[in-house]
Amino acid sequence: MAAMAGATWAQEGAATTQPAPSLALDGAFKDGLYTLPKLPYDYDALQPEYDAQPLKIHHTKHHAGYVTGLNQTLEKLQEVRKTGDYASVQALSRNLAFHGSGHMLHCLLWHSMTPGGKPMPASFAKAVEADFGTVEAMQAQFAAATTKVEASGWGVLAYEPVGKKLLVLQAERHQDLAIWGVVPLLVCDVWEHAYYTQYANNRGQWVAAFMKLANWDFAAQRYAAAVKI
Ligand SMILES: [Fe+2]
Repeated sequence: MAAMAGATWAQEGAATTQPAPSLALDGAFKDGLYTLPKLPYDYDALQPEYDAQPLKIHHTKHHAGYVTGLNQTLEKLQEVRKTGDYASVQALSRNLAFHGSGHMLHCLLWHSMTPGGKPMPASFAKAVEADFGTVEAMQAQFAAATTKVEASGWGVLAYEPVGKKLLVLQAERHQDLAIWGVVPLLVCDVWEHAYYTQYANNRGQWVAAFMKLANWDFAAQRYAAAVKI
């Protein structure tokens, strides 16, 4: 956090010099497979805050492991769909979320750091102030929430598009929230409150009923919007 604390808020450059906004994660996916992106700096570039050796291990071993696991899980799921035997779908879905979130969050992590830190543009600082009071208050909440994540996980500054709000979130582990970065298209609630009074403990019956109610046109509309991101 040292770099953030020392940052000053720069004026934004002319609009013509700014790259087009994009949620793409460079180097994270190619030719049908998820891939390990190169770091946007050398391994020794974040020293002394982050030494070269732990950064290199983090990138080439841990992040690479998520990439391998994600591709392997997707391959196994393809096999499952071919055979129609879904006995392993729970474990595979967990692996998909675990490795998928690990890949997405590490791609974001590498770009969340830069040698010496980089100041916040004025327009973003304004948005932060609107939701947190001051930039310093957001940074204090981010640092405190990140420090207090129980066991393993992440501190996350996120944009919530329904209320159009910036939020600081904790992610315990990272797979419990599926894959960070996905855009939900269609959802089914399987908390007991959703079905227990009608279906008791027969969740499968509720899911079957839901599948008869599913609005795939709604999903298609959200898909059309999501692919434009
Ligand atoms: Fe990590």
